[in-house]
This record gives sequence, structure tokens and C-alpha cells, in this order.
Amino acid sequence: MQPTSDSLQLGNYLGALTQWVALQDDNEAIYCVVDLHALTVAPDPAVLRERTRRTAAQYLAAGVDPARSLLFVQSHVPEHAELAWLLSCHTGFGEAGRMTQFKDKSAKQGAEGTTVGLFTYPVLMAADILLYDTNLVPVGEDQRQHLELTRDLAVRLNSRFGAGTVVVPEPHIVRSTAKIYDLQDPTSKMSKSATSPNGLIELLDDPKVIAKRIRSAVTDTEREIRFDVAAKPGISNLLTIFSALTDRPVASLEADYDGKGYGDLKKDLADVVVAWVEPFQQRVFGYLDDPASLDDLLAAGAEKARDIAGGTLDRLYERSGL
Ligand code: ADP
Ligand code: NA
Repeated sequence: MQPTSDSLQLGNYLGALTQWVALQDDNEAIYCVVDLHALTVAPDPAVLRERTRRTAAQYLAAGVDPARSLLFVQSHVPEHAELAWLLSCHTGFGEAGRMTQFKDKSAKQGAEGTTVGLFTYPVLMAADILLYDTNLVPVGEDQRQHLELTRDLAVRLNSRFGAGTVVVPEPHIVRSTAKIYDLQDPTSKMSKSATSPNGLIELLDDPKVIAKRIRSAVTDTEREIRFDVAAKPGISNLLTIFSALTDRPVASLEADYDGKGYGDLKKDLADVVVAWVEPFQQRVFGYLDDPASLDDLLAAGAEKARDIAGGTLDRLYERSGL
């Protein structure tokens, strides 16, 4: 999780965060706020520091449990940067150059605007994963190629330095997750990089603003409340959000709203979202209003992470002749 925004949007929460939090029930889960990765977008230092805290607070508020799981900030565990250097000496220049995310971003920024950090970003990500003898990595489509690189590096290290040098991680495909669309442009996915904020539900926004955006969501010229993504993307998106936050099947919502108007659905959904978001925000601001405790919690996480990461790095240094 990159600390690159002040607030997660609802798509991040329903499409990713809730699934990641659920993984801690059956796994030893490790959550890391990757502030070193965020340096690739040249953030303002004070903004980065604040966003690192806000990101951690939102994960905690969503249910990451530091008593059961590891939660820490990447830069607090210097082994990440150390292993990244070692891995970069095993990564082909051409191999790294084939990463489509690098190709896309560097094409937009031009050669002079593109940093070496952006180029080696996937190598740092491989270090994040391999340091913890990770078995499973929950990844979306956009990170699949980076995980493949991590696996190639792991296989290579094991063949150069002996079996068992590192664990080869597997992708963890999360069961079909809710995809949330922009409220104003319901054929595009909700994204914090949207051109207008009006289509976004930002989790830390004023609940009144959130309710207003839902009531102003784009729908269609019919009257029927029915789930049909192709013909009725706006209404379908509202039903998806309603269903995800209430755990009610879409079919039962369709039955409930049979004969009612779009305004009724929007008003009720606004109430549902506000009733959910208010206690979420209270938890987030509870952490943010007590920065010393939050910093202690993150420092304790980093200490535990260093125990594991240090062992892996020692093994790799030893086998590398360092
Ligand atoms: P954003 O588009 O807001 O920048 P990211 O690309 O940082 O979001 O995605 C973070 C995680 O949230 C990813 O796992 C991604 O699949 C998930 N995600 C982002 N937007 C949505 C959405 N609209 N619906 C479902 N999942 C989403
Ligand atoms: Na994005």
C-alpha cells in the first residue's frame, strides 16, 4: 500500500482492503506502508509523512489487527533497501525494461523526467516480498507482471546459491471482488486519479459531501431499479455498493425497490454509506489524533519485521560472499 493519497476511495476499500484484512484470519499476514516506493512520485516531504500515517490509520480502522498481524512502514526496516540492491545485481537491464508499468509511466514522463528509482521499483517490490519468506501475495492485474519478476528472481537465487535460499511466492487471487465505478461516469472505475472528484467516495471526506455525491450520481432515463451493467451502469453501481456494505444480495434489493424511484435508492444508499463511514472515520481520527501511540504501534511492527527481514538478509549476504 503506497501512501500516495490523503484518503482511500470506496473502490480501494471494497475491491481490495476488505479482502486483504480478511486474509489475516487464516494466514500470518504482513502489511507494509511502502513509503520508499512513494518517493518515485517526488512527494512533498511533509505530505508524505502525513500520508504514511493516514494510510496506516485507515488500514487499522478497516480491521488490520496488530496483535495478530505485522503492520509497519517500509523505510523503518532498512533491510528492504539493502536487499533491493542485492536483487538489482541479479536483474537483467532488459528484463526490468520490459515491465509494462515502467514503459507506460516513463513514456509519459520522458527520459529526463524518469528516475532510476522508477526503473528499479519492481526490484524493491521483490525485496518487500522475498524478505519475509512470503508464500502468497494478493495482487491485482496491474501487479501481476511485477510478481512474475519476483518469482523469476527467487528461482534464479535458488539456482545460483542453492535450494532454499528464498521462498518462491505465489499470487493469491482474491475471490471475485466488487468493482466500483465512478458516480459521474459509471463506465470508468472509481479511481483517485479521476479528473473530477464528484464521482468519488473518499473515505475521509465530510459525510455530508459523500451523501451529496451519491444523491447526484449519474443514472439513466428509465425508472426501473434493475441490475444490468451494460444497459444501466449507474444504477448497477449503486446496487453493488449497497449490496457490499449491507451484505444483502442484489436480487433482494431489486425486489425491495420494485416500483420505487431512483431518488429513493440514492437517498437510502447515502444513509447506508454515511452510517458505515462515520464510525470508520471515528476510528481513523482516533489514531491520527494520537500520533505518539500510532508511531509506537508502527515502531513495534517495524521491530518485529526486522527480526524476520534481518534473518533473510543475513542468509543472502552470507551466500553472496558478503
Ligand atoms: P486508484 O485507482 O484509486 O489509484 P489503486 O490503483 O491504488 O487505486 O488500487 C489500489 C487497490 O484498490 C488495487 O488492488 C485495486 O484493484 C483496488 N481498486 C482500485 N479502484 C477500485 C475500484 N474502483 N473497484 C474495485 N477495486 C478497486
Ligand atoms: Na492508480
